[in-house]
Amino acid sequence: MIAGYAVPDFVSGFWHYYIAAITVVSIIAIIWFLRSQTTRKLAPGEEAEVLEPTFDGDLQELNNPLPRWWLYMFYLLIVFGILYLVLYPGLGRFEGVWGWSSADAYKQERARVDAEFDRQFQPFLGQDLMAVAADPKAREMGQRLFLTYCAQCHGSDAKGSQHFPNLTDGLWLFGGGDPEVVKASIAYGRTGEMPPLGDAVGGEQGAREVAHYVLALGGKPHDAQLAAAGQAKWVVCAGCHGEDGKGNLALSAPDLTNDAWQYGGSEAAIVESIVKGRKGGMPAQLEALGEAKVHLLTAYVLGLSQGK
Ligand code: HEC
Ligand code: HEC
Repeated sequence: MIAGYAVPDFVSGFWHYYIAAITVVSIIAIIWFLRSQTTRKLAPGEEAEVLEPTFDGDLQELNNPLPRWWLYMFYLLIVFGILYLVLYPGLGRFEGVWGWSSADAYKQERARVDAEFDRQFQPFLGQDLMAVAADPKAREMGQRLFLTYCAQCHGSDAKGSQHFPNLTDGLWLFGGGDPEVVKASIAYGRTGEMPPLGDAVGGEQGAREVAHYVLALGGKPHDAQLAAAGQAKWVVCAGCHGEDGKGNLALSAPDLTNDAWQYGGSEAAIVESIVKGRKGGMPAQLEALGEAKVHLLTAYVLGLSQGK
């Protein structure tokens, strides 16, 4: 509805005629009123009438016709109004012969600004991501983009929060930090879903066992006995997270063997992931932002964890 704001979307055709009629009748009434008040001229020798009452003792109001220049300004305004209603939307649902709409005007302005941005960002598109990451000017532009499009989820310092991954620690849910995978995460999003699997692994106890197997896959402290029991149940998980637990990019199933955790790597957090399932969501950016901005953002994100 808002998008077509310049062309008011009345709920029924009646209101279009109702409003258009009021507008037209008002204009005609104003013209008639102006004429009725100004056509009478003073005859030679005739005095202007003094209207009652007088104000403040001696302040009198005379019944003179309006001065010509003043009157013509009124008529000019009326002509302007009629022209406006012919050219622009304003008369009920009539769109105006110029077909102007605020939505189109906004679109054109957007296109102009986008073209201007692209001109600035385009040179970086041809460069290697790591080279862009090292360019101070590109980093500054990348940061501004990040604050606009990414900070609401990943935080203005990109350190994330619960359920939103930290992008500065050099630990990656997807692709181990391969620049092209980071770019793909941003461009196409990561909207994988893990179904609740408590029943599939034999309830809470089974989930604990698998959790310890996950910790074992990552070479972390774990209970060997529980992990051994969990290994048998890993088949439930391997289809998505891989035999080795390193994840599957096509399914947006994260690497479970490093220290990058979206929901937490404690036994309790992993059990919760298994029992309840998980559905996060990193929205795809390519369509909305275009490749040049995605490239710049990727470089910015990669630069944040450099040396870690
Ligand atoms: C609506 C919230 C949201 C927004 C906005 C968002 N992200 Fe994400 N992002 C996430 C979530 C959640 C994940 C984890 C993916 C998952 O759920 O599997 C993620 C994952 C990522 C990853 C992969 C991290 C890894 O460890 O592999 C990168 C890179 C990333 N985001 C960058 C960005 C950039 C750059 C922007 C801005 C253009 C952005 N994100 C905007 C929520 C968001
Ligand atoms: C259907 C595919 C699929 C299966 C089967 C699956 N997962 Fe997942 N898993 C995912 C996806 C996708 C995510 C990421 C969810 C998100 O982004 O919110 C995930 C997330 C997780 C997480 C959270 C990781 C973090 O960073 O916090 C853990 C832990 C996990 N899975 C363990 C397992 C275990 C253990 C099994 C086997 C019992 C399993 N998964 C089976 C697809 C799957």
